[in-house]
Amino acid sequence: MAVSIEVKIYPELKKLSRAVAGEIDKIVQSSLQQQFHLALSGGNTPKKLFKILAEDYKDKIPWERIHFWWGDERCVSPVSDESNFKMANDLLFTQIPVPSKNIHRIKGENFPQEEAERYAGEISKNLLSRNGFPVFDLILLGLGDDGHTASIFPDRMNLLDDSHITAVAEHPQTGQKRITLTGKVLNNANRVFFLITGENKALRISEIMNNEEAAKKLPANYIDPTHGELIWFLDEAAASKIS
Ligand code: 6PG
Repeated sequence: MAVSIEVKIYPELKKLSRAVAGEIDKIVQSSLQQQFHLALSGGNTPKKLFKILAEDYKDKIPWERIHFWWGDERCVSPVSDESNFKMANDLLFTQIPVPSKNIHRIKGENFPQEEAERYAGEISKNLLSRNGFPVFDLILLGLGDDGHTASIFPDRMNLLDDSHITAVAEHPQTGQKRITLTGKVLNNANRVFFLITGENKALRISEIMNNEEAAKKLPANYIDPTHGELIWFLDEAAASKIS
């Protein structure tokens, strides 16, 4: 069970993203560690957050202390518009003074299984371990309208309990190969922030928040950082079906 669980609801994406940016600033500034390990989510939702961090926090956050990782990545080239790295690079890394050595991208262009193992090794080398799994200081997650998070899809619930740090996954509709952190790593983080907006996520949010039977089939339902805090950042549309 998470140390604390909060649900924060905002009128729309911009206000939600501003709140997340402020939380990240506060957490990094108050962290006593020299290195802060942050895993980014992919998809569209975090774009506004990256823009706000680049525009409003460029000279505020000590970027040299933050090490950037990913919760998942598509097995595509880093210059592909599908690449989660490319999105963060275009919107954030090219705009802030973050050392390139602090950017630990998943190399989507590599053979998936080899890259999953390489990425896991890089994580193990750089992060502290707790109960046999690496500890991220903060993991950002999104929610798919099928209830997936990172690239743990409903047809691969076993990845929630996989003993490895990473795994090769496959998008159930497109067949696109992905590399993902596994559930035990996600639930070993000091903090997990879900960033979720849009009416198309409202059903899944309501199933999870209302503890409905259907939630048992949703990977996101099992994100519950054992030693950490969990904050759901929702816009009103995504929260609209919570009873
Ligand atoms: C990815 C993400 C994935 C995403 C959700 C929500 O690589 O696509 O990591 O888990 O967070 O699918 O995506 P949107 O933000 O685009 O709705």
